[in-house]
Amino acid sequence: MPSPPPRPSSTSASPLGAGDDDEFFEAHDITVDPDLSDGTDSAAGDDGRPESTTSLTASLFDYRKIHGRTYQNSQTTEAPIDEEQAEGLDITHHFMTLLFDDKLSLAPIGDNPQHVLDVGTGTGIWAIDFADEFPSASVIGFDISPIQPAWVPPNLRFEIDDAQLPWTYPADHFDFVHLRNLHGGISDWPALYHEAFRCTQPGGHIEHVEFNIRTLSDIAPPDHIYHRWNALFAEAGERMGRTFQIYDQMRGYIEDAGYVDVVARTWKVPIGGWAKDPRLKSVGLYTLLFLDQSVEGFALYMLKSVMGWEFEEIQVLIAQMKEGWKQWKRWQPYYEIKLVYAKKPERSMPISSH
Ligand SMILES: C[S@@+](CC[C@H](N)C(=O)[O-])C[C@H]1O[C@@H](n2cnc3c(N)ncnc32)[C@H](O)[C@@H]1O
Repeated sequence: MPSPPPRPSSTSASPLGAGDDDEFFEAHDITVDPDLSDGTDSAAGDDGRPESTTSLTASLFDYRKIHGRTYQNSQTTEAPIDEEQAEGLDITHHFMTLLFDDKLSLAPIGDNPQHVLDVGTGTGIWAIDFADEFPSASVIGFDISPIQPAWVPPNLRFEIDDAQLPWTYPADHFDFVHLRNLHGGISDWPALYHEAFRCTQPGGHIEHVEFNIRTLSDIAPPDHIYHRWNALFAEAGERMGRTFQIYDQMRGYIEDAGYVDVVARTWKVPIGGWAKDPRLKSVGLYTLLFLDQSVEGFALYMLKSVMGWEFEEIQVLIAQMKEGWKQWKRWQPYYEIKLVYAKKPERSMPISSH
């Protein structure tokens, strides 16, 4: 078993999960910012959100520039996805990278990765940053939707393909296969991990990051909108046949595919700026920005096409949920992010016949 990875210093953590030495709940308890008001923040705007949204958007682009990204404008794509959704993906990339202490990957891939695959690459923002950071690597990002920018680092190539079909890549080829936030897009996860395993080099790694779409709160009452929302989308995912609960299953599926040295880590992430820790506070505010911006597109599709709701009913529910998130000082909502990485076993040595 590999030694446990160091924990980010930014989160207060206590190990959980008896018997799971390699599974850490990094932010088992989020320390609440003592400077928050008494929680009676139901009035619109009382949480300072409009101002924080404006400055967050500006600082997001500053951040991209500070980190030397030349191709930051990945949302100015002509692809048939609306700009808000694409921007949502880029905001998610930002706060996830922030959460991981500015690292693009936590798997022990070394400084010299060679052949890297990003499955369901979206706007390609992770692949672009990875290719920039590791000029040694030849990176391929593929997606079923053509929403990637044209201007990319020379060592990156985008392809359009369906991850649910047999992959066209050679066996034992990639030393790193990366997947992130594909929940709700895949109906047969074991088949997908099987393809990933086949295409991973012996000794190479897979890393999969997902967030749990459930909004949790230790203090909201059982009939709170958070809980109704969670139950609804769990049902919608199952009805659609593409579960959102891959979060709970990914570790087991990765092991079943044949990977070894599996390490799973989970973070508890605030929604809104209620954490005391500055990094977590920032992650929480970006998460809120992302949810505010992206929930409509996501919920409309799920509730209309999958659950058969009327447009007006959906609008009411979305408004209630947005209001619920906005009341983050009162309910201290959070969600969880899980990262699993693992290794394909080294090629076994031929057994001598003597
Ligand atoms: C939420 S986005 C995440 C994008 C990217 N991985 C990231 O973290 O920024 C999910 C992506 O998965 C893609 N996707 C869904 N089903 C897919 C499939 N069967 N094959 C390839 N890509 C798929 C979607 O088109 C979308 O771009």
